[in-house]
Formats: sequence, C-alpha cells, structure tokens
Amino acid sequence: MVQVKPRSLPHRHSNDHPHDQPNDHLSAPLMQNHFETPQEIQAQIYKELVRATHDRHHAWRTPVLATSATDGIPNARTVVLRTVNPAQNMGVSNSTPNNPGGTLEIYTDRRSPKVTELQQQPEACLVFWSAKLSWQLRVKVSVSIQTEGPYVESLWQTVKQTRAAGDYLGLLAPGQTLVADSEHVGSSLAPAEPDVHFAVLSAQINEIDWLELGRGQHRRARMGSLGNNTGWGWAWLQP
Ligand SMILES: Cc1cc2nc3c(=O)[nH]c(=O)nc-3n(C[C@H](O)[C@H](O)[C@H](O)COP(=O)(O)O)c2cc1C
Repeated sequence: MVQVKPRSLPHRHSNDHPHDQPNDHLSAPLMQNHFETPQEIQAQIYKELVRATHDRHHAWRTPVLATSATDGIPNARTVVLRTVNPAQNMGVSNSTPNNPGGTLEIYTDRRSPKVTELQQQPEACLVFWSAKLSWQLRVKVSVSIQTEGPYVESLWQTVKQTRAAGDYLGLLAPGQTLVADSEHVGSSLAPAEPDVHFAVLSAQINEIDWLELGRGQHRRARMGSLGNNTGWGWAWLQP
C-alpha cells in the first residue's frame, strides 16, 4: 500500500467518534485531523458506513445510487444503506480476498427500473455525503441482484414485520403510470396474499474516492485495486 502523506498534520489520534463529542453539531471541523494514515482513514470510513446502517440520523444512511440507464443516460436515486460487510483488510471479517473492499446492501422492489438497469450494466456508483464528517464518498460498485434463496427469504421474514413491507408488495411496479384513481391507492383491491417483490442489491466495492472538506485545505484519496494488480491500494489525490 502506498502511504505518501500529502502534508504533515498534527497527530491527534483518537478513536472517539465525532458524534460522541459534546456540542456534536459544532465539532465537525475537528474531525478532519483525527485520522491521518490510510489505515486510520479507511478504518473510520468503514466504521461510519456500518454506523449508518444502525443510526437513522446518520447522513450516510441515504446515499445516492447512480446507474447507467438502458438508453445510456445516467440515472440516480436515493436509497437506504441496509447492510455493510466491511473489508477484510479493515480488520473485520465477512469479506474474502476476492472481495477486499467488502459489500454494501440495499433493498428494492425487483420490478423497479433500477433493477433492469443493473441487470444490463452492473457497474454503478454510490455517493455519500456527511456534513457532520465533512466527508464525501464516491464508491464504485459491481451490483448483483438477489431475488430468492435462503438469505433473501430470511431478510424478508424480518422486513415483512415492519412498516416498510408494503414497499415490496405493491400491485403496480414502481414507476408504472397510474390511469385510474383506484390504482392510486390499490389497497382496497389488494389480494389477501400479495406477491412479494422484495430484492436485495448486493454492491461489491471496487473503489472508494474519499474527499474531506477542510477549513483551509481539503484532502482526497482513492482506495481500491487501482488497476496495478497489487491488491487493495491507496493513492492521495489532488482534491
Ligand atoms: C430517503 C429515501 C430513501 C429511499 N430508499 C429506497 C430504497 O432503499 N430502495 C429503493 O428501491 N428505493 C428507495 N427510495 C426511492 C428511490 O429513490 C426511487 O424513487 C425508487 O426506488 C424508484 O427508482 P427507479 O425508478 O430508479 O428504480 C428512497 C427514496 C428516498 C427519498
């Protein structure tokens, strides 16, 4: 891993999460000096991603997923980050040497246009921004779509107990044009046992472009295989 520091920073090592500090909303600018080395920054990125799956108020809980539409025009929409299987090289299990960046999971209706887009072009990008962290992530991913099997079934057994279950039980597909008032609500016509359209988008992380906005200086780095066949690497970039 290349570890060239773009500038020297005062070492203020801290494992504290910035959200845990008093006057949290005022403390964001302090964050940027806490993590200096590639290892520290990457570990914190994955910690924050995991945290976002548990914390409804974390800004990284709702990234934007950008895909290539079937006509070649980009498409993007907000989604909820449901699960993070962090990278092995972050010292956390659940990833394999073939998947050094780990995976992110999103739930969707399998009939939604994004699923068709991803079937045709699995390469996509997830964009996260947190004003509290002053960090943007642009995560390049390869997305696979899971619609059946024990894993999807076990997730659905949990999701179906929640209010969100209806998102995957609609009579009409997302984006379908409504032609009559009755279709607008649909519930009165809904069958007792509606079809389940629940799907899991499993996004394998190939590369992360990290940008930190600082008061005076910004920092930026790219991490991933970086095309040099040396495994997961790190490169500081001009912001
Ligand atoms: C805060 C927020 C969270 C959302 N989360 C999801 C989600 O997790 N999965 C999903 O399929 N759509 C989610 N949506 C709806 C999508 O943004 C989008 O409108 C819908 O999925 C249809 O997208 P498509 O036509 O590109 O497939 C969310 C929207 C908002 C505003």
